[in-house]
Amino acid sequence: MKQEKIAVIGSGNWGSVSAKLVAENALSCPYYHDEVRMWVYEEILPSGEKLTDVINNTHENVKYLPNINLGLNVVADPELHNAVKDATMLIFVTPHQFVEGICKRLQGNVRHDAKAISLIKGMEVKKDGPCMISSLITEILGIECCVLMGANIANEIALEKFSEATIGYRDDKKAAEKWGELFSKSYFHVNIVNDVEGVELCGTLKNIVAIAAGLVDGLQMGNNTKAAIMRIGLREMRVFSKLIFPSVRDSTFFESCGVADVITTCLGGRNRKVAEAFARHDGQRSFDELEAELLQGQKLQGVSTAAEIFEVLKARKWEEQFPLFTTVHKIATGILPVNAVVKYSEHAPRMV
Ligand code: NAD
Ligand code: 13P
Repeated sequence: MKQEKIAVIGSGNWGSVSAKLVAENALSCPYYHDEVRMWVYEEILPSGEKLTDVINNTHENVKYLPNINLGLNVVADPELHNAVKDATMLIFVTPHQFVEGICKRLQGNVRHDAKAISLIKGMEVKKDGPCMISSLITEILGIECCVLMGANIANEIALEKFSEATIGYRDDKKAAEKWGELFSKSYFHVNIVNDVEGVELCGTLKNIVAIAAGLVDGLQMGNNTKAAIMRIGLREMRVFSKLIFPSVRDSTFFESCGVADVITTCLGGRNRKVAEAFARHDGQRSFDELEAELLQGQKLQGVSTAAEIFEVLKARKWEEQFPLFTTVHKIATGILPVNAVVKYSEHAPRMV
C-alpha cells in the first residue's frame, strides 16, 4: 500500500542528486508513491525554455546537473504549494539563505503529520543567537526535522561513486530510521546518530574551513599548511559546537559529517574553488563576482556562514578563541589581506 509521498524542495546540484537517489529507492519500495515531486525555482534558460519544462522533457537538470538522468519518476514543479501537496516526506535542500522565505510560504500548506529532513548546510543568526535550519523548519512548519550531512560532493554521488553520510535526529528515532532507509544505496551508506545539532553544525561550519583551505591553495602554501588549516578548523568546529550546544557529542566529529566532510570539501568543493580564485586575485575580485563566474548559478555557503558565525563571536566576545573563523570572515570582507589566513593561524591554540 503506497502511503508515503516524497517532495524535494530544491533542485540545485545536490537537490537534483538527492531527488535522483530517493526516486530510485521509491520505485523499489512498495509503500512509497512512485512519483517524487521536485520544487524548482523557475528560470528561463538561454534557449528561451523553462528549466522545469526541460527537466520534465529530458529527465535531466541541464543547468545544475548536466548529463545525469534523474529518472522518469522525478517530476519538476515550479509551484511550491503544488510540489508539497499531500507529501508525507519533505526533503529540504536549497541554499540556506532561501529556506526561511520558502518555509514562510509553506506555512499552513504542509500536512501536520509530514516528516522533514534538511540537507542544507548553513544557519541563520537571530536576535537571541544562532538558529539551525532544522529548528527553523520545525518552528515555522510545526513538524519534526532530521538532518542529513556528510562527505557528499553531489557530482560524485550522481555517478554512483561510494560515499557515506550521517543522519542526525533529536527525538524521533523511527523517523530517522525511515529517512536512513530512503537514502541508503549500495553506493550511499548512512549512519544515524542522536545528535541533530552536532551533525548540522559540522555540515555548516566546515564550509568556513573550506574557504580557508581554498585561500591556502591560492597562496600555493602546499599540503602541510592545508592540513594544518583543516586541523585548526576542525578544532574550532568542535569547540564552537560544544559552546553553543553542550549536548554535542565528540563522536559526531568522527562521522562522515565531521572529519570526512572537512576533507572532501577542502579537496574538491565549490567553496574551496572560489576561495582559491579569490586568493589568486589577491582579494581584488569579490567572492560574489567569482561565484557567478565559476559556479554558473550554483551557490557557495562558506562566506555568508563566516559572516553569520562572526556575528555570534562578536556578540559573545569569542573572537580570540576562534582565530580561523574570524580571519576567514575578515579576509572575505577585505578587512585583512589574504595571507592573514596563514599568519594568524600561526598563533592559533594548539591543544585539541
Ligand atoms: P546549488 O548551489 O547547486 O544551486 C543553487 C540553487 O538555488 C538552484 O536550485 C537555484 O535555482 C536556487 N535559487 C536561486 N535563487 C533562488 C531563490 N531566490 N529562491 C530559491 N532558490 C533559489 O544548490 P545545491 O548544491 O543543491 O545546494 C543546496 C544545499 O545543499 C546547500 O546548503 C549546500 O551546502 C548543500 N550541499 C551541497 C552539496 C553539493 O555538492 N552541491 C553537497 C552537500 C550539501
Ligand atoms: P561545496 O558547497 O563547497 O561544494 O561542498 C559540498 C559539500 O558539502 C560536500 O559534502
